[in-house]
Amino acid sequence: MAIKAQRGTKDILPKDSYKWTYVENLFREVCSLFGYDEIRTPIFESTDLFKRGVGETTDIVQKEMYSFQDNGGRDITLKPEGTAGAVRAFIENKLYANTQPSKLFYITPCFRYERPQAGRMRQFHQFGVEAFGSESASIDAEVMALAMEFFKRVGLEKLELRINSIGCPKCRNEYNNKLRLYLAEKLDKLCGTCQTRYEKNPLRILDCKNEACQSEIGDAPLMIDNICDGCKDHFEKVKVYLDSMGINYVVDPKIVRGLDYYTKTAFEIISQDIGAQSTVCGGGRYDGLVEQLEGPKTPGIGFAIGVERLLLTLENNDIEIPKEEGTDIFVVTIGEKAEIESFKILKALRSNNISCDKDHVGKSVKAQFKYSDKINAKYTIVLGDDEIEKDLATLKNMQTSEQTEIKLSEIADVLKNMI
Ligand code: HAM
Repeated sequence: MAIKAQRGTKDILPKDSYKWTYVENLFREVCSLFGYDEIRTPIFESTDLFKRGVGETTDIVQKEMYSFQDNGGRDITLKPEGTAGAVRAFIENKLYANTQPSKLFYITPCFRYERPQAGRMRQFHQFGVEAFGSESASIDAEVMALAMEFFKRVGLEKLELRINSIGCPKCRNEYNNKLRLYLAEKLDKLCGTCQTRYEKNPLRILDCKNEACQSEIGDAPLMIDNICDGCKDHFEKVKVYLDSMGINYVVDPKIVRGLDYYTKTAFEIISQDIGAQSTVCGGGRYDGLVEQLEGPKTPGIGFAIGVERLLLTLENNDIEIPKEEGTDIFVVTIGEKAEIESFKILKALRSNNISCDKDHVGKSVKAQFKYSDKINAKYTIVLGDDEIEKDLATLKNMQTSEQTEIKLSEIADVLKNMI
């Protein structure tokens, strides 16, 4: 049987790849506007990085990682997200020794062994940013502003920014105890996953998608009502900065995020029209992560946008991505000499940045014209054996069908001024 692409992976074909290039370029542009530089980290890392970085109690580490031993017996994992690798690189390359903050962005494939559905893939792609070295709420607002500016430029004005504070280790611990007390008598009615989260990460129980669990915990105490004064002050400042930029948001106390490293600010950007997997962007602050991975105490905040979900949202909103214009010139050849001569022309045109093409599969003259039409060439150059002797070719304007004679030796110069 023919080998097929793996479940949860997808080929990005030419009919779609231009959309990827477009959004990638736009993301780079916006990052650059905000002063973020690109970082590229490896696709695979030590499994320990994610166990310690993303967290042992997360779905990602417990059941979704693509982990294997390489031929040298090392435990390796394909990156399930971009933050842990960026933090490792930040520490290993001593980026903390530079003037802070370090503002980084990346575009990367990620791998999670999840049940595929619309907007949920096993290999998917993220546009991410990570800003290291600032505790200030202003950087929280800045990364959110960056994401919102990107979405605006891509044509998505209706996305909803939801923010929350999930506290610092100190107030989270106190809150966890309070939450455990509340949950204790309901525990046997909760699903297996919630029960396993009770001890290590009860906050995640609030995030359970199981309706029975949700109806049990409807009046659970919320983190946002239990954050300490420092976290409260930080959160208030984030809101002030967002207000100052006129960025709309809603405070959503239910946001807890699925990764263990978050502290204080957590946020998500939601699209109402792509079904169950509606979170197009997720992010937050992770003030303990650099230290946890044995770097110097350094605060951080970032987000990642799911590119597949972004493109799905664009499609569902009927937002068309501009397609690069097609080939400028198609060269039709009649005869063997003309075929050889055409390469000279193609080379001259391409050197002058004029896009051009010719047939390579022995098409008849009629089929060559048809193809020129199909690829929307602006002009067709018709080159015949006889005309070559006279240093001439015919230039056909494909829109008006007007034909003129053109000197072969001047072709590039003439066309340069016409295209
Ligand atoms: P995350 O919420 O796990 O956060 O993922 C970020 C985004 O990646 C999601 O909002 C979603 O759009 C997309 N995504 C996640 N899983 C899949 C999947 N299986 N298929 C398609 N898209 C998916 C993080 O990864 C954090 N590292 C974000 C971050 C950066 N926080 C701070 N800095």
